[in-house]
Amino acid sequence: MSKNFYITTPIYYPSAKPHMGHAYSSISADVIARFKRLQDYKVFFLTGTDEHGQKIQKAAEKEKKTPLEFCDQISKIFLDLCSILNLSNTDFIRTTEKRHYDTVQHLWNLLQKNDEIYLSKYSGWYSVSDEAFYSQDEIEEVDGIKRNIASGSPVEWVEEESYFFRLSKWTEPLIKFYKENPDFIQPESRRNEVVKFVESGLKDLSISRTSFNWGIPVPNDDKHIMYVWMDALTNYISATNYFSKENNNNFWPADIHIIGKDILRFHAVYWPAFLMAAKINLPKKVFGHGWILSGEEKMSKSKGNILDPIEIINEFGLDELRYYLMKEVIYGQDGKINLENLKNCINSDLANNIGNLSQRIITILLKKFDGRLPAIKNLTQIDKNILETNDSKFVNAMNSLELHNYVRQIVNFASDVNKYVNDEEPWNIKRNSNERIANILYVVIESLKKIFILLHPIMPEKSENFLKCLSIKKEDITLVNFNKKLEIGLEITSPGILFKKIL
Ligand code: MSP
Repeated sequence: MSKNFYITTPIYYPSAKPHMGHAYSSISADVIARFKRLQDYKVFFLTGTDEHGQKIQKAAEKEKKTPLEFCDQISKIFLDLCSILNLSNTDFIRTTEKRHYDTVQHLWNLLQKNDEIYLSKYSGWYSVSDEAFYSQDEIEEVDGIKRNIASGSPVEWVEEESYFFRLSKWTEPLIKFYKENPDFIQPESRRNEVVKFVESGLKDLSISRTSFNWGIPVPNDDKHIMYVWMDALTNYISATNYFSKENNNNFWPADIHIIGKDILRFHAVYWPAFLMAAKINLPKKVFGHGWILSGEEKMSKSKGNILDPIEIINEFGLDELRYYLMKEVIYGQDGKINLENLKNCINSDLANNIGNLSQRIITILLKKFDGRLPAIKNLTQIDKNILETNDSKFVNAMNSLELHNYVRQIVNFASDVNKYVNDEEPWNIKRNSNERIANILYVVIESLKKIFILLHPIMPEKSENFLKCLSIKKEDITLVNFNKKLEIGLEITSPGILFKKIL
């Protein structure tokens, strides 16, 4: 029986159209989800939109729309982006849905029952753009404007009645939890940041607002709406219907939350503290990836330096973009991307290396063996070395969430196979007997099968197109078939040009 795997992306603010940073988060989660399917896991893959809060309310006012009208419109763009990016998500949650509203109120009641919430007054700094409260030592003044030091977002002074969550009492339990679960926060450098922050002592957290009303009301006190991060984080259990009888609870706790490094504190501190306080199991891992940079800066709407994923997809192709992002940006670190590198990557790795190899070999097979996979006899040690390539280094790279290394290992493997072909010259009938040519073609076709199975999480469509030519159906793209040899005599068709060179 297959095992369950639950993976999430951040839920996006539909305050503006999605950009490459959002696409990156989602594609990377999709790659992991798809790889788990290759390993025969039953995967629940969640994404969605985070629709409450002051930021959205203000954005809607600017467009003279009600917040819900505004969210309906932009959430749809994020939903459509899932198909444009060919995400294999199994759910899309909106925080304006009833299932979410009910879950958030249920969680609040539970926390209140456990005496984790009290009413008081908040006075301090708040950033609408980050939807975050900041302490005095996190603020600096630049050109007369007070800003948060880390994000650079402007902050305003807020004084209002507020409910508080007793976060301070969870300082020690959290530190203990991080110690006992050293892999909870990844990569390692991010873990250290969080541990340092918690060790410096946590203050109770304001979890309701009264100065605007776009949010989920506090049960029995609807003058207050819940702090948008408390609302948003809960989406991860709303989607499994955690509190309902007909739930998908086999999926909670989540195996991994994929997020950007800027929202680590919410996921690795507040979220586990809420869950501990509600006596709910904690997610197994939070992975904070880096930022996609434009030049030296984070790509963001407020900086006006965004690359539109849709424009790039239209010009260069979706799978090409997915491949480039996963290979070029070290997963967990910031990465610069630019069109020149994207073109080089398409030309050298995809068109010249993998594409060319596939075409050359299948052309010979069609000519010499009528497109049928020939039998093998008397393999040399060199043949065997290539043929026996197993999945362990690829599985290891993926298990340690080194998505960039996963892709780089595939390219290295393809380069090894290319070198083998160039050395062995299966086209050279003066040098090679028919039996020898058959052996070489067999070895290369087995290798191409492996390469395209491994590429499936990265480039699903290209992989499916190629594997179709080996009669491998979509549902048969698995690691089991990576290891199972193709049948002798199998009829193989030409995949045509898989990757066009960019001039
Ligand atoms: N709504 C919150 C998340 C709530 S999750 C319970 C939010 N939304 S966001 O739309 O502002 O950002 C969503 C994700 O996109 C974040 O993880 C953020 O790090 C990521 N990115 C936004 N810009 C990015 C880059 N330039 N590069 C990579 N990812 C970045 O935060």
